[in-house]
Amino acid sequence: MTRNNGVPLRSTRWFGLQDKDGFIHRSWMKNQGFPSDLFDGRPVIGICNTWSELVPCNAHFRMIADRVKRGVYEAGGFPLEFPVMSLGETNLRPTAMLFRNLVSMDVEESIRGNPMDGVVLLCGCDKTTPSLIMGAASCDLPALVVSGGAMLNGNFRGQTIGSGTSVWSMSEDVRAGKMSSADFMDAESCMSRSAGHCMTMGTASTMACMVEALGMGLPQNAAIPAVDSRRYVLAQQAGRRIVEMVHEDLKISKILKREAFENAIRVNAAIGGSTNAVLHLLAFAGRVGVKLDLDDFDRLGHDLPLLVDLMPSGKYLMEDFYYAGGVPAVVRALGELVHRDALTVNGKTMGENTADAPCWNADVIHSRENPIRERAGIAVLRGNLAPGGALVKPSAATPRLLKHRGRAVVFADIEDFKKRVDDPALPVDENSVMVLKGAGPRGYPGMPEVGNMPLPKKLLQRGITDLVRVSDARMSGTAYGTVVLHVTPESAVGGALALVQDGDEIELNVESRNLELCVSDDEMGRRRKAWTPPPPVASGGYQRLYIEHVLQADRGADLDFLLGCRGADVPRESH
Ligand code: FES
Repeated sequence: MTRNNGVPLRSTRWFGLQDKDGFIHRSWMKNQGFPSDLFDGRPVIGICNTWSELVPCNAHFRMIADRVKRGVYEAGGFPLEFPVMSLGETNLRPTAMLFRNLVSMDVEESIRGNPMDGVVLLCGCDKTTPSLIMGAASCDLPALVVSGGAMLNGNFRGQTIGSGTSVWSMSEDVRAGKMSSADFMDAESCMSRSAGHCMTMGTASTMACMVEALGMGLPQNAAIPAVDSRRYVLAQQAGRRIVEMVHEDLKISKILKREAFENAIRVNAAIGGSTNAVLHLLAFAGRVGVKLDLDDFDRLGHDLPLLVDLMPSGKYLMEDFYYAGGVPAVVRALGELVHRDALTVNGKTMGENTADAPCWNADVIHSRENPIRERAGIAVLRGNLAPGGALVKPSAATPRLLKHRGRAVVFADIEDFKKRVDDPALPVDENSVMVLKGAGPRGYPGMPEVGNMPLPKKLLQRGITDLVRVSDARMSGTAYGTVVLHVTPESAVGGALALVQDGDEIELNVESRNLELCVSDDEMGRRRKAWTPPPPVASGGYQRLYIEHVLQADRGADLDFLLGCRGADVPRESH
């Protein structure tokens, strides 16, 4: 069988051979009970599954894979499910981000080395989305993402609670003496009460929205709850559609154009999406060769209004977002700010997919005329403390702290922070700037989500709820506060962050996009001369490879040798 353009399918180089090699490729597959006609040259569709019981957000993925298979069979394809390493935010140490690039290699080589003509990517928990897209993008076969969907709203004693966001706030309440530990533990079961990923606009939901905004998923892929029957309908439709995409040769590179990235940046601003999306979109662009840099996020997104009222920036959750209209309603509300002619996986343009998208609840999805907050997109800061850039998410910050000058309280690493943060003698007050070092891509390694350092207990007890915090770390998409992240270059490579000392003044001015360490150049020079790099944190294995090759945050923290698309030419025979 050939594609619409007459080119033979790559899977025929395995299953279409009439010799010893063809025998080997088909015969062993038949031990699974596949009838001979499945090897007749029909499109072979890989279903890349990140199912794992260690990744609770993706634990329902075998059911989703079954529905994708149903759709593939219906459309005349041959589905073959395969596993890749799965990354869960809640269990994996030292941080799931360390392994995003490793999984992307797993995905890339699994696709290229196997008989498949197209692939459906099953993505859920935060890093499972970028790792699968990055790997697939470096092969550039037709690919379509099916997200797993978010959990139902959390509910604790009649109050709506959201994944992550409410953990941070309730934990601060316990430390401030406003909530008992027993009540806090009771909330555990009330927060995560169905299959699915975090139901706040954290990184998983943000990346599911990015999938849709990029055109890599079917309309409503992002918001349908995991347990809603319509999630399974979408999975089945995705199975049907990927077969058509193979015939049309609708490859990732035809979808992930510069316009698609611009759409994603704008949607991310309007939904109050995670700062992690910046890293991941930069990494995607690096794989497909689209020119995208940090300043694009500020230029295209910062002036946009916040339209979606979801935690952590607002009060609703993903279930409400779906009922209100989901991403299509947001895209429609953004009007001419979105490239409406950008192509999507269903073969239609973004404009065609969203032209009539209704908004059913204007309290959840606002119009541009009545936004939740003006100019709420991620701001990119520069200055002597972050010459390579740093990020802040104004929609999740305290407005009065967006212009602030205060004295630094410095922590050498996250262990130092945990040891001293509640020390009554810590010289910290409401004007302090908490600074964390050693949490960047190389330094930790893997750039963990520790940038939203909890506030010192003695300040919480005084009713103080936010401080300016600065680090080379990331922050959970579910978190909030006036938190400056991704400071580049990171401290472990000798960035200015490494030179900050207790008592130094730091000035943050989001309006002018400035982050300054108010120390003279002479003094900075003296400190730089005295600085010694931290000892290596890994002697071998993948972590050593990562440390030696990881790029800084302003380039998406990909590995330098993984940039670009290496295609999906059929490798030489294995026997
Ligand atoms: Fe998996 Fe939040 S922990 S999405």
